[in-house]
Amino acid sequence: MAHILSTSCCLKISSSSKKSYFKPSNESLTLFSASLTSKTCKSLMPRLVWHEKRLARKCVVRATTLPTSQEAPTTQSTSGSLDGSSRSSKAKRAMIIGGDGYCGWATALHLSKKGYEVAIVDNLVRRLFDHQLGLDSLTPISSIHNRIRCWKSLTGQTIELFIGDICDFEFLAETFKSFEPDAVVHFGEQRSAPYSMIDRSRAVFTQHNNVIGTLNVLFAIKEFREDCHLVKLGTMGEYGTPNIDIEEGFITITHNGRTDTLPYPKQASSFYHLSKVHDSHNIAFTCKAWGIRATDLNQGVVYGLRTDETAMHEELYNRFDYDGVFGTALNRFCVQAAVGHPLTVYGKGGQTRGYLDIRDTVQCVELAIANPANPGEFRVFNQFTEQFSVNELAALVTKAGQKLGLDVQTISVPNPRVEAEEHYYNAKHTKLVELGLKPYLLSDSLIDSLLNFAIKYKDRVDTKQIMPSVSWRKIGVKPRTITA
Ligand SMILES: NC(=O)c1ccc[n+]([C@@H]2O[C@H](COP(=O)([O-])OP(=O)(O)OC[C@H]3O[C@@H](n4cnc5c(N)ncnc54)[C@H](O)[C@@H]3O)[C@@H](O)[C@H]2O)c1
Repeated sequence: MAHILSTSCCLKISSSSKKSYFKPSNESLTLFSASLTSKTCKSLMPRLVWHEKRLARKCVVRATTLPTSQEAPTTQSTSGSLDGSSRSSKAKRAMIIGGDGYCGWATALHLSKKGYEVAIVDNLVRRLFDHQLGLDSLTPISSIHNRIRCWKSLTGQTIELFIGDICDFEFLAETFKSFEPDAVVHFGEQRSAPYSMIDRSRAVFTQHNNVIGTLNVLFAIKEFREDCHLVKLGTMGEYGTPNIDIEEGFITITHNGRTDTLPYPKQASSFYHLSKVHDSHNIAFTCKAWGIRATDLNQGVVYGLRTDETAMHEELYNRFDYDGVFGTALNRFCVQAAVGHPLTVYGKGGQTRGYLDIRDTVQCVELAIANPANPGEFRVFNQFTEQFSVNELAALVTKAGQKLGLDVQTISVPNPRVEAEEHYYNAKHTKLVELGLKPYLLSDSLIDSLLNFAIKYKDRVDTKQIMPSVSWRKIGVKPRTITA
């Protein structure tokens, strides 16, 4: 597995601060350099290493670029309504695990803008996946350090940074003790279904990274911040495509004359989606056993680039994945339209899923934090705003592309996945709307937040990355490099 994860960062640990902050050794921290200057971290072995035999990954690097100087906000975010004393735990300090990623970065900035004290925890492994697979974001993205510095210079707001792997409990414990979060938003997982289906080692990595990372977060909350609200990103893909309506987390069933409300059945269709199912079970169990308060956000497919905050400066731009491994359907179609590549519909194209704008992702997380689950409550929200089939998406992109003068064609390519290509799909998604979500609809975003960006950056597109390169059926034990 060393071919997937072998990295470390050069860092010096500052002892001047009351809190144990760890500062980068130089301004331009080199992401994948091979040594660590800290004397105190010996036991942590500051490298991202996967030792398959002992299944213990010791990572790390603990860092923050900026000391906390902000006072906790005196007023709370106003979106959503608190419904009484049982939900009185108002979060002021939000820890964003995976805050260097697509959803996490936009969320970190949004919460910082809303007056929360924000810390990002990330091991930057998403950037490493790109290096190893020969992929790149359509938009150029700055280093996490420059992103945070830019945000500080534009807004005066500090975002703390802890670089390390949440699978390393010692690292995670330090971040909890140092930052003392009121809410933890957990985006920090390997999130691509195709990535998890490349080969055995990626399948094992995905499940280890996601399940153990989440388990560590649960133990950290129990040990250090038991009143802290966990907001965990799950996926609508946990449910699969059953031939009945999909409820929000639970279904009431009458069986042999007896009735109970039970977790909605899960039918995940990749090793990635299965890791999310395991996470949900672990979270539900610890809510019951330890009284943890948690919200599982079963998110649909996210599209779009712009949020109010990321649009403020090019150094704040979000990543935008269009390749066959990390690109989500709509983002991919827009890039394909921009470069004159036919839209690649997998199989019959009747695959229907829930979708949402990245601006709604940040809104939903804010609503979940502002209205926390009660102690011991395992709450599930289906986080999407509209559902579309792949054929419907292709038709929408074709129409919008024509308005911009693009000649958009569509082809059907053999489906690399194992999934129903025509099926019933009706998923409930009312709980976030009841809390105050005001959705951005695709019709409003398609041109501004997607196609225009795809056109602006089309010279950066590597057309070799457009076609799917990972087959669900051909996964094997041999380590694979997916690009030529
Ligand atoms: N993007 C979508 O369309 C979508 C849809 C449904 C659910 N989700 C969920 O939302 C979350 C975020 O998705 P995203 O698109 O932003 O993914 P992303 O890959 O862009 O971001 C994930 C971040 O987590 C970090 N990370 C991964 N493992 C880590 C570890 N062990 N320790 C510390 N950091 C780690 C990565 O470096 C990366 O910055 C994921 O859990 C994903 O499953 C995303």
